[in-house]
Amino acid sequence: MGEISRTSRAGTIPPSCLHEVFRAAEDRERATGRPVIKLHVGEPYFPPPREVALAVEHAVHHGQTAYTSAEGMSALREALAVKLETENGHRTSPDRVFVTPGSCQGLAALFQSLANRGDELLLPELHWPIHLQQVLLAGFRPVFYALGPGYRPRLDAIRAAITPRTRAVLINSPANPTGAVLGTELMEGILELAREHDLQIISDEAYEHFVYEGEHVSFASLEHGLPERERRVFSTFTFSKSLAMTGYRLGYVVTPNAAAAHALRVVQEASIIGPSTPVQYAGLTALKARDSARENARMVRANRDRALPALRDAGLLGELPQGGWYAVLDLGPVGVDADTFAAGLLEKYDVGVAPAAGFALRPVVSDDGRILSADPAPDSRTLVRLAFCGDPAELDTGVERLLAHAAELRSRGGDP
Ligand SMILES: Cc1ncc(COP(=O)(O)O)c(C=O)c1O
Repeated sequence: MGEISRTSRAGTIPPSCLHEVFRAAEDRERATGRPVIKLHVGEPYFPPPREVALAVEHAVHHGQTAYTSAEGMSALREALAVKLETENGHRTSPDRVFVTPGSCQGLAALFQSLANRGDELLLPELHWPIHLQQVLLAGFRPVFYALGPGYRPRLDAIRAAITPRTRAVLINSPANPTGAVLGTELMEGILELAREHDLQIISDEAYEHFVYEGEHVSFASLEHGLPERERRVFSTFTFSKSLAMTGYRLGYVVTPNAAAAHALRVVQEASIIGPSTPVQYAGLTALKARDSARENARMVRANRDRALPALRDAGLLGELPQGGWYAVLDLGPVGVDADTFAAGLLEKYDVGVAPAAGFALRPVVSDDGRILSADPAPDSRTLVRLAFCGDPAELDTGVERLLAHAAELRSRGGDP
């Protein structure tokens, strides 16, 4: 048997490009003994609320450590249903809410609960690489929809990507990596399309609290008045971003109806048994820390407003991201590709950024679901992603050095 025929489907899926950047930055730190400014990483500089740590400690010390059900503790799911209604305008019942070890696992489980052989799922042309991995692992065929100005989805592009095999559309607002935010009108249009073609919508709202222009709209709030059987929006949320609880691994998924909840329950029983119990107690406490979420959003917004306009003025950034933690820069005017730029920036200036080609892979999938190739979309080769959720002084220095590197390359006509 040849090598390729022994390789499992998962073994053919490209690893996240971010691991490569992480490794390069770590190697650099080891080699030079100097710290790298990590603008490639979405790790916030603000800590989780103190009371959240105390809640975990309390749970562990008081023996609140037994398994819970696959959906999670009812007390937390009830509290989440209240949060969803009051903050997101999404009236649901605790039976439809699943607590998950991070929204990443929730998304992976959700895709697995939805996929049938040969189904297609629509992803934005620039997307979080983990979404693509999850979609492929679940057995979907990814199809990509083009983005318009400000990297916002275009209704006509989504419509054009639909085929008789399309089963679902992924919407990520605010988006990683682009920072694009969708408004109600566009969402209404997408929902209408989904009804017309009987599609499910998966709305990843990890950055719900980080919206700088307008308001965050939860997709499922548009189904507010509908009976359950007519609902088609799945939503995923996390404590990682709003409250800097990245390593706690706590998120949640909301399913639109009983049949969808049943399928997800089976996947979760088989995958996790249940989410971590002490961490769920942390979640109960974290839900009361609304002021922290607001303050964290204010700090990231201040980073955006202070550090990013210089990148726009230098012609590297089209418009300031409307939300989220990231901006996509286009190095077209500098005259180099993103890999060359990022390698030089790390080597000469100790600053890490993530080349965005890995956010735009176009896998070719065989009939049995294995990936035959996964080249980046050609127009992604000059894009890099920069995270602006980090320490303000480091961000400012990192942006200064990035601009110096770009100016130097430009003056040499892009010759590294
Ligand atoms: C768009 C998006 N969705 C989901 C996640 C998952 O976050 P977590 O698993 O920590 O909840 C991330 C994390 O970077 C993300 O960027």
